[in-house]
Amino acid sequence: MTTQHKHKVTSLVLAAGNGTRMKSDLPKVMHEVAGKPMVGHVLSAMNALSPERTILVIAPHMDKVRERVSTLYPGTRFAIQDQQLGTGHAVRCAREEFKGFKGTVLIVYGDTPLITPESLSKLVAVREEHNAAVALLAIHPDDPTGYGRLIMKNEPYVERIVECKDANAEEKKLRWVWGGVIAFDAEFLYEGLENLEPSPVTKEYYLTTLIEMASASGKKAVMAPMDFEESMGVNNRVQLAQAEAVIQRRLRTRFMEQGVTLMLPETVYFNSDTQIGRDVVIQPNVFFGPGAIVGDHVEIRAFTHIEGTTIENGAIIGPFARLRPGSTVGENAHVGNFVELKKTTLAKGAKANHLSYIGDTTVGEGANIGAGTITCNYDGINKYNTTIGKNAFIGSNSSLVAPVTIGEGAIIGAGSVITQNVEDHALALTRSQQVNKIGKAIELRQRKGKL
Ligand code: UD1
Ligand code: CA
Repeated sequence: MTTQHKHKVTSLVLAAGNGTRMKSDLPKVMHEVAGKPMVGHVLSAMNALSPERTILVIAPHMDKVRERVSTLYPGTRFAIQDQQLGTGHAVRCAREEFKGFKGTVLIVYGDTPLITPESLSKLVAVREEHNAAVALLAIHPDDPTGYGRLIMKNEPYVERIVECKDANAEEKKLRWVWGGVIAFDAEFLYEGLENLEPSPVTKEYYLTTLIEMASASGKKAVMAPMDFEESMGVNNRVQLAQAEAVIQRRLRTRFMEQGVTLMLPETVYFNSDTQIGRDVVIQPNVFFGPGAIVGDHVEIRAFTHIEGTTIENGAIIGPFARLRPGSTVGENAHVGNFVELKKTTLAKGAKANHLSYIGDTTVGEGANIGAGTITCNYDGINKYNTTIGKNAFIGSNSSLVAPVTIGEGAIIGAGSVITQNVEDHALALTRSQQVNKIGKAIELRQRKGKL
């Protein structure tokens, strides 16, 4: 994104909540949407604004969140909220992390995975335009239960926010509510948190109390409308599935716009890191796990499962193929039905078209792997590699017992069990000799009383 903002941005994400309604051993924000934790979606959206610093507020028991986020977003600072005393308290726990910072502190709740960089950028711009202490994104949902109501005499300026739990009947009818995304002037926020008092009703420290603190001291708090869908918070697994549906729809739309044909879009599942080139055709019911990179002019046929694999230009995959992590399918190579690749490289034009397991293997250019070939890469203790040379031909139903090397242009007779290396251009056979006994079938049947 290219939008330039006048002031620097610090992004702050709240994730210390327990998320009890998920009924899970995993912290809520670690639940994944399109293969990425919810908090990762929020951080990715915020990172598009190139924040000067990023702070995540977590609870003391959330080491897993810290670990995963540190790997995905190195440089993230963590603040610990040891008691759940409300959203205002959570931000206060992060105060030292933005002490002395001048600019905008952008706060998003960690369970809002659908927020887009465009809306965040708009919010920061709105605060700057109005020279406001606070800017917040507002929505008007059909059912505003649970949301803080915006009290406004002079739209778009907000006097205060009344939390749903504390609102009277009149206030409950108000149309605009806060969507959970807010931008503060850093110095105002730092000072305000110092003086924040808990709600007399619930004894919680509300972040929203800072709005009335701003207007009471003659500062501006301004609202800007946002798309309701983007504000959707995930509190249970039904909402998790709804968020997934939205992200999948966005990913499908993006790929189609980039020149990918999806024959039946709603049946294709993408990971948030999937990369696909141009003029790729994807048949129905294809699943992309993490780390799939697809080149141009590739055809991915129905019911294929792909993860951690690079597919080069012009390759044909499936139907019913399984590509596992560490694999590469070279240019114009083919991987057909019921073929599984694991940590395997197929060079340009190589083919494995039917019923095979190929693991820990390098297959040379133009080699042909016959139906039912198995690389025996595991002896129950260790894994071993197989190397198959350029233009080699592996006859059907062969077992290649690793470690083993099949030379360039070599031919393996069908049904062989290969335990020793095969030289370039050699023919290797390990089958027992065939014996044909003329007329013996008749004799056999007579003996068994069948004739
Ligand atoms: C909040 C807003 C409400 C707004 C709504 C939008 C407040 C007081 N209210 O209500 O005005 O309309 O979001 O979705 O802010 N959290 C902590 N520590 C805490 C409490 C919460 O880290 O002590 C985190 C949670 O993990 C969560 C976020 O803050 O990510 C929001 O908390 P939640 O309790 O869900 O607030 P709401 O009641 O939804
Ligand atoms: Ca919430």
